[in-house]
Amino acid sequence: MPATTRIAVLADIHHGPDLPTKRGSAALPLLERFSAFVAETAPDLVLELGDRISDEAPDVDRRRMAEVADALRALPVPVVSVCGNHDLVHLPAEENGALLGQPMRHRTVELEGLLVVLWQAEARLRPERGFALAEGDLAWLEATLAAADRPVLLASHLPLSGQAQTGNHYFENQPELAGYAEQPAIRRVLDRCPVPILAVAGHVHWNSVTLVDGIAHLTVQSLTETFTTSPEPAAAMALLELGQQARLQVVGNDPFACTLPFAGPRRRWLAPLVPEPARAPAAAADGVAEASRPPASLRLSS
Ligand SMILES: [Fe+2]
Repeated sequence: MPATTRIAVLADIHHGPDLPTKRGSAALPLLERFSAFVAETAPDLVLELGDRISDEAPDVDRRRMAEVADALRALPVPVVSVCGNHDLVHLPAEENGALLGQPMRHRTVELEGLLVVLWQAEARLRPERGFALAEGDLAWLEATLAAADRPVLLASHLPLSGQAQTGNHYFENQPELAGYAEQPAIRRVLDRCPVPILAVAGHVHWNSVTLVDGIAHLTVQSLTETFTTSPEPAAAMALLELGQQARLQVVGNDPFACTLPFAGPRRRWLAPLVPEPARAPAAAADGVAEASRPPASLRLSS
């Protein structure tokens, strides 16, 4: 029976202006509440999943990022972060890292019985291409997972599951912007992971569980999002406990909880059926997804 690791999770802080579906002005007070949540739950680690600010302009972004960084650095446990798309519009990853006191590159954190993989895959939105991995992103992930000697928690800003966006305020009508164009290739890398793995992400501003071929993908609601809790912010703060099982509990105005198998053997699923007429060009499934790109008119505010 492995030790249980407790990780407090915070997603999409979006410190910034109040927007139609974000209470950006509540971010700093809610970070004070998160500090109390950390004191109550005594996690081993805090995982912050990116989109710390809603970008406006370089100077104001820098000031807001520093305010969030001050709040995170005041927490009494180690904090690890990844960058979200809004963090990188006006501030390079290096400046995010300097303010946070963390290296903002791919890295791992070894905990007893758990390897936390911080996958800093390219998170800048390219208006004509959507989200696409940078050179080396996938190779680093594949090599890191292949060498893992204990169960893995894989953290990224964008979800890696290819989950449906039905009902999502931001993404139902532009699902291409909810994940990477290379999602099929990412899935193949995760499929080859030799140890138990659970993925956790932000970006889509809702709580969710998506199971793909025996791998669980979690997303955690944003701290200041209002689309599921209007007019109040979701105030989402999560505790993820990873041992033989994975237990996620999200508190706030959009509460959520789930318990899943984690550290035992992975139960693979039978491959999806291919409908008869589609069998001849079977390889097209990956090709279509990898070639799809959102039109330039699509815009992202999550
Ligand atoms: Fe976001």
